Formats: sequence, C-alpha cells, structure tokens
Amino acid sequence: MRIDIITVLPELLESPFSHSILKRAREKNLLEIHVHHLRQWAMNEYGQIDDYQYGGGAGMVMMPEPLAKAIEHLSEQTRYDEIIFMTPDGEPFSQKMANQLSMKENLLIICGHYKGIDERIREHFITREISIGDYVLSGGELAAAVVVDAIGRLIPGVLNNETSALFDSFQDNLLAPPVYTRPAEFRSWKVPEVLLSGDPKKVADWRHEQSVLRTEKRRPDILSDL
Ligand code: ADE
Repeated sequence: MRIDIITVLPELLESPFSHSILKRAREKNLLEIHVHHLRQWAMNEYGQIDDYQYGGGAGMVMMPEPLAKAIEHLSEQTRYDEIIFMTPDGEPFSQKMANQLSMKENLLIICGHYKGIDERIREHFITREISIGDYVLSGGELAAAVVVDAIGRLIPGVLNNETSALFDSFQDNLLAPPVYTRPAEFRSWKVPEVLLSGDPKKVADWRHEQSVLRTEKRRPDILSDL
C-alpha cells in the first residue's frame, strides 16, 4: 500500500511512522508513506496557503488553489482509491473502516489547519472525510497518524502470528479479554487458574466469556451492533 499525506506541518509526521510495527511494514515494502509539504504549491513567494474567510469571522481558511494543485499533481503519478480529508465533522473512524481501508492500494490524506479547507475542495476532490473523535485537534496531522497506524498494522503480512490483529479489541464487536504474563503470582495477586491449565479449549472459552463481560460492562453500545 502507498499512502501520500499533504500537510503544512510535515515535522509532525516524522516520528509516528518510524518505529515499531509501521517501521517494519515500511522496511518490508508492504507500506510506503510519502509526506508532502503543501507550501510547494503555495500561491506566492511568501508561501501563502491560507486566507481570511468570506463573510467574516475569526480564523483563516486553507485556499483552494494550493490544495487543488497538490492533489492534481500527485494524482498524475498515482491513481488514488480514496482522497481522504481529516476533519472533526467527518465519518467517525472505526476498526471496520480501518479494515476496509487496509485493503486499498493507494490513499491520499489531506490534513486541514486553521478553520479548515475551502468547501469547494471538499466537494470536488475529497472522496471520504474522517474524524477520529468528537473533539477538535489543532490540525489533521495527529488524526492522520492515528488512521495510518490503525490501517498499516492490518495490511496483510505486516503482523505475524504473535501480533495478529484477529484478537484485537473491536474485531468482533467485542473488547479484548484481560491478559497476564509471568509471574503467576505477584504481590499475592494470582493469574486466573484457567490460563495455567494448558487446555486450549478452556482458555478460548474463558477469553470469549471475559470479552463479552468486559464489553457488556464498558461498551454495551458496540455489543448491541452484533
Ligand atoms: N482535525 C481536527 N480535529 C480532528 C478530528 N477530531 N478528527 C480528524 N481530523 C481532525
């Protein structure tokens, strides 16, 4: 998979993809990430990419021309399956959406800033708008990093058996069960007996039961989706 990201703050996206699972995905050539600075397509020598909003009101708006040029330039080289805009009024991001997007070949992600981007770009170029939650971040970069991380780890071949995503929270509309490691007793707190039983069927049943209990208690809203 190839992911291109357009941003005015490329520095914010340097570290998130350079460690752990995403780093390995890139090293194995399963994931290619290219971050592009919007100022390359700025309006003038001052690097202008934003302007006051029509109708008045506080806050600048990202101008249509630099964004249109950036999207068109990149689209000449890559056929994007989706052109995504990160925005708090977008579709709520979910594990289901991450699963779907992880099967795409090429994604282009636009990070907004200030008051947002000119509506005409949203109407004419953007194919999908994603929010990572009901709160407002200072820009779309951290949201894009969340989405790329969630998608990247699902690309076939990125995770191995040990890190498999199959048992992650949300994969079956269930939260993941509790996990334990050594020692079997820590400050007199014991690991549940069943996990030491060596009986895979019993362990699997216990995990499923714990997942259901945990979901009922913490997220009954997702359980009702089943
Ligand atoms: N940009 C600012 N806030 C955001 C959010 N909650 N989700 C996606 N993009 C954003």
